[in-house]
Amino acid sequence: MSGERCFFAIWPPVEVREYLTNLSQGFGAAAGRRQHPDDLHITLVFLGQINTEQMACVQAVGDGVRGEGFELSLDQMGVWPKSNTLWSGPSVTPASLAALVGTLQSGCQACGFPSEQRPYKPHVTLARKPLGKEGYAMDGAIAWPVSGFVLAASGGGRPGEPRYRILRRWTFAPVTQD
Ligand code: 2AM
Repeated sequence: MSGERCFFAIWPPVEVREYLTNLSQGFGAAAGRRQHPDDLHITLVFLGQINTEQMACVQAVGDGVRGEGFELSLDQMGVWPKSNTLWSGPSVTPASLAALVGTLQSGCQACGFPSEQRPYKPHVTLARKPLGKEGYAMDGAIAWPVSGFVLAASGGGRPGEPRYRILRRWTFAPVTQD
């Protein structure tokens, strides 16, 4: 075992990261314990701890993805009481995002990972342990152009430092016209 918890994710471009950082900062202490700006992301498929053989298999899954860039509109936020997290996400899951998640999920299943039972709900965790449960709303929306995806790991991280490390990045191939 590598001892690292791994996951496929999309990482936001700088303007989206800054928007989300300002958004959670705007709630002050009521936001709870904010994520480090460099840690903001949307998980596509969570894998957990993976061994060397599985690492090779999931990287091959990433290599096999064919897709085009797409845009996500983050236009919703709220608190999930069970996980006690403040999140932002799209009210509509674009078909391209659902297709990407589906491809990664079935590839990871073929690598021996259990299938995800819960419906996919794309979100960025902004903060943990928010003080309130309601009253968190976005004033508008932010467009997130998605041009690829990553394999990331939770590397621990000291207080005040990012928790996650990007192990590999994949960029969608440009569309070729014949
Ligand atoms: P969260 O932010 O909603 O907690 C790294 O931990 C990433 O994987 C986070 O985006 C986290 O989601 C997600 N994650 C952690 N455990 C998970 C699980 N058991 N199933 C799905 N996603 C998980």
